[in-house]
Amino acid sequence: MNNQQKITSNAEHLLITEREHYLQLHPRSIAFSKQASQHFLYGVPMHWMNDWGTPVPLFISQAQGAHFTCADNIDYTDFCLGDTGAMFGHSPAPVAKAIAEQAGRGFTTMLPSTLAPAVGEVLSDFFGLSCWQLATTATDANRFVLRWARAVTSRKKLLVFDGCYHGTFDDAMVDMTLRDDTMADVINEKTVSRASLLGQVYDLGLHTVAVPFNDLAAVERALASGEFAALLTEPALTNCGMVLPNDGFIQGLRALCTQYGTLLILDETHTISTARGGWAKANNVVPDFLVVGKPIAGGLPAAAYGFSAAMATRMQAAKDAAPAGHSGIGTTLSGNMMTLAAIHATLTEVATEDAYSNMLALARLLEHKLIESINAHQLPWNISRMGARLELQFCAVAPTNAAQARDAQNDAIESTIHLYLLNRGVLLTPFHNMMLICPTTTEADVNKLMQVFDACLETLTSA
Ligand SMILES: Cc1ncc(COP(=O)(O)O)c(C=O)c1O
Repeated sequence: MNNQQKITSNAEHLLITEREHYLQLHPRSIAFSKQASQHFLYGVPMHWMNDWGTPVPLFISQAQGAHFTCADNIDYTDFCLGDTGAMFGHSPAPVAKAIAEQAGRGFTTMLPSTLAPAVGEVLSDFFGLSCWQLATTATDANRFVLRWARAVTSRKKLLVFDGCYHGTFDDAMVDMTLRDDTMADVINEKTVSRASLLGQVYDLGLHTVAVPFNDLAAVERALASGEFAALLTEPALTNCGMVLPNDGFIQGLRALCTQYGTLLILDETHTISTARGGWAKANNVVPDFLVVGKPIAGGLPAAAYGFSAAMATRMQAAKDAAPAGHSGIGTTLSGNMMTLAAIHATLTEVATEDAYSNMLALARLLEHKLIESINAHQLPWNISRMGARLELQFCAVAPTNAAQARDAQNDAIESTIHLYLLNRGVLLTPFHNMMLICPTTTEADVNKLMQVFDACLETLTSA
């Protein structure tokens, strides 16, 4: 048995004990789960909340800063932070104040509030693109941007990367299969609808093509056909573990998109962790569209997409040329008064340069400590980091594409680490091993994570 096999076997045993431990710790969550099951599918408001890997879901009573309290009154240090929705901390005071004040003055009217000009200015200043539109979720923002991209280019196809996730936006819900041809040495790439999708009846591979991340040659082969309206990507893949871009990769995409008339959409919903303004601004890459969501209103549902004044002219021309009627872009509640107030407070008072400095310094410290611990336990694992966002992966060398990231996954080890930490008051992001730092995370919070993580590795590697 090699080291990884031994740890996997230890993890399988430890998981049984940790599941029992969880049930003992959470009588009130168990009671809430039973009660909620009477009226909610799977006993939760969204069915996937049941997929966290705990024996019953953890019910939350309140969240503040980098901490939250569960129904059983246990305090947790939160490194998941709503998978980025709460990246600027739970319930930040300026946002709570802004929405409380706005709540007395109206929620939604389908008309712009008087704060609209200031919010446009703040978005433009924060992300560096001059024109903006709002959506309610990043999923919707991606969907709307693709519609605009098709409208302005009169092309149909979308290029994405294998392993991508841009929300439950169907066009990007594809997988790349490598299919062995009968010619033995020939490999065909084929894009197919993700097998797990429920109720999707269209062949998404008809209009979407997926290629491997960090493979500029594959991108060029696709774009050279002249059929692609847009290339949609995150600056790093952050939903299949984490795959960082090779040096110059995103810049290479920018050049290829310009060369072949394809619009480059950067989805910075997660990589807003890089720096104030996101990865593109920090790296001087100007996309044709920039999508942001999740934390921009402090965790209230809000998303936005930005573009240049020149693109705005093309968008207006496409809209003016279309018959009158619904564009298929936009939803009733997008850009409501509450959202505008929350975005304004978040981007001006919470997501400040000082806040980012604290987040980045602590993330670097956590990276250093995690690597030290992995090395001390002689584990062939690594840490990838994008600003305040860190990912633990069970491979010695950081993956450069989604296939390598998938190969590094180990469900037994992952589930055990998550539950061991949760049972000791530390929450990691589910479905992979992401840790996020918010402006109010402290060194003591990092030390707590490290103390529990070390103890977990000690148990996994012993015997
Ligand atoms: C990169 C990226 N874009 C978009 C989304 C969709 O966000 P939402 O679920 O808030 O629509 C996600 C969600 O995880 C994401 O990771």
